[in-house]
Amino acid sequence: MKGRIFDEEESFSETTEMMLRPQFLNEYIGQEKIKNNLAIYIEAAKKRNEVLDHVLLFGPPGLGKTTLATIIANEMGQNIKYTSGPSLEKQGDLVALLTSLNPGDILFIDEIHRLPKIIEEILYSALEDFCVDIIVGKDETSRSIRVDLVPFTLVGATTRVGDLSAPLRDRFGVIERLDFYNEDELSQIIVRSCHVFNIKIEDDAIIDLAIRSRGTPRIANRILKRVRDFAQVKNNSLINKEIVDASLLALGIDNLGLDYVDHKIIKCIVESFKGGPVGLNALAATIGEDAHTIEDMYEPYLLQKNIIKRTQRGRTISDLGYNHYLNSLKDF
Ligand code: ADE
Repeated sequence: MKGRIFDEEESFSETTEMMLRPQFLNEYIGQEKIKNNLAIYIEAAKKRNEVLDHVLLFGPPGLGKTTLATIIANEMGQNIKYTSGPSLEKQGDLVALLTSLNPGDILFIDEIHRLPKIIEEILYSALEDFCVDIIVGKDETSRSIRVDLVPFTLVGATTRVGDLSAPLRDRFGVIERLDFYNEDELSQIIVRSCHVFNIKIEDDAIIDLAIRSRGTPRIANRILKRVRDFAQVKNNSLINKEIVDASLLALGIDNLGLDYVDHKIIKCIVESFKGGPVGLNALAATIGEDAHTIEDMYEPYLLQKNIIKRTQRGRTISDLGYNHYLNSLKDF
């Protein structure tokens, strides 16, 4: 493994967060189709002594896009540089990053849908021909010079693939969508994290946590850390189902893994809009949350679990959602 280099804004130390992240494909649990495809593309690129084609990973937050980018770098035996769409403001920011790359490096751009348009335009030639045209000088004296780049692989990540322009999307040779994890995969991830943390957990506690992690490893690991705190203080460090239930109650996470904001969404559709339909903006304004946050972070799981539905005229509550409201939310 060559190691990692962080963009200044991104620098963070070796935290437990990073210890929890698998470093190679064979340690990565779930997303089988993506893993199998990547393993082939990586092996083929290595056999040909070429860089891997540019990769676009999309899907809801917390499913492992950054982790997969790191794994791609490790499997290719190359360095990775991390940055994000909103942190690149001027064309010069991207040119500086591109010209600092060594042959074969991986450049990871998180939230690539938030790249400013003028920067995106520079990326086109960088991705296709490994060169950039930059303008030097001002007014009459200005001219364009071509700067050659070394071959590299861009790994882009986004929660909103629909917001990417067609020219940018078309320059990715590999496009993969990450899906929510099932309970068995989340259980395996929780077991792995318990090994990393060296903590004891009972089988029914693992399943309870897996069910209540919203199909998302980041959430599984986040609540595992909080449950570990409760276990340490109240149960001699052993995590059992009672401790999971007590900690999740304290965290405001219900038996389906839904939290305070999910509850506000469900209650709003049922109580303020008589079950819907309600448009996203009206919903967001009524509960005082950002529409993009609802759309990117909350809706995907509520839709996948068939708690709410998306229709032409807006969001509606499903029978399942309404029953959950009656049984768990109405009087809270
Ligand atoms: N930790 C977080 N996500 C993981 C995954 N997909 N596999 C293994 N460990 C993980």
